[in-house]
Amino acid sequence: MSQVFVTRALPAGLLEPLDRFNTSVWERDEPIPKPELLDRAADADGLLCMLTDSIDRDLLDRAPKLRVVSQMAVGVDNIDLDACAERGISVGHTPDVLTETTADHAFGLLGAVVRRIPEGQSEVLRGEWGPWAPFHLTGGDLHGTTLGIVGMGRIGQAIARRASGFDMTVVYTSRSPVPGVDARRLSLMELLEVSDHVVVSVALTEETRGLIGSAELAAMKTSAYLVNVARGPVVDTSALVRALSEGEIAGAGLDVTDPEPLPADHPLLDLPNCLVVPHLGSASVATRNAMARLAVSNLVAGLDGSPMPARHPDGG
Ligand code: DGY
Repeated sequence: MSQVFVTRALPAGLLEPLDRFNTSVWERDEPIPKPELLDRAADADGLLCMLTDSIDRDLLDRAPKLRVVSQMAVGVDNIDLDACAERGISVGHTPDVLTETTADHAFGLLGAVVRRIPEGQSEVLRGEWGPWAPFHLTGGDLHGTTLGIVGMGRIGQAIARRASGFDMTVVYTSRSPVPGVDARRLSLMELLEVSDHVVVSVALTEETRGLIGSAELAAMKTSAYLVNVARGPVVDTSALVRALSEGEIAGAGLDVTDPEPLPADHPLLDLPNCLVVPHLGSASVATRNAMARLAVSNLVAGLDGSPMPARHPDGG
């Protein structure tokens, strides 16, 4: 019987399809420590893992029976895809089911920072709500502005659909033109120069690591806001701290950071123009359930030798 290891506690019932395998679960809410993961994966045929687990060469070398890695996330930058491909290990992930929820979240962050909602709430919570004043906490607008979307994949396209409802003009970057998208494709530098706000929604790869650094932030309008719903390392953190403190851009809304979690004494958290939330892009109940179900289906299909509903093209 195939051995399956699930690296995080998931709600009862979601794992039922795995009952016909010899399945064990790391029954905790926090990530499994690496030594424990190495130990538990050693005799696994299938792994159901999270973006917090490093599925690297070391782990794969110590798990000779492994045939399927099924991740409960769309992004797979924690998985060494080349090493999986070399070993013929199929990799599953969870695209599509989280697209709309993540785009909602990107828009939530954008609206919040552009209209300075967190700053307003902090003021109220500090008991400093003074009399109404004509230019107090005035921010930017969403309507009538140009939104630059860095990465026009599934989530980028869902963000663009929302932008049209807000009467925004969309421009985007992507490796090749995206058919059916009512927006102009620009180079990254052109996009940063013309956009009133920028949302980052590219996968983290060796090409996109540090994509938004000092030069890119300097190219943005001083009135522009940056939102990152991709992965923290796509934006250079030190450059962002500098750009935010020196007024090079107006503000940022970060769903993801580098490092993650962000330590409580990190300089980003001292900046009133920076909203940080703890990687919540896909965090609606319905979407997380759908992601878990898809990750289970991918794992079952992979172990049965059937086509996975969502197989990552770069795995084995
Ligand atoms: C993903 O799926 O990659 C997100 O970051 C978590 O939903």
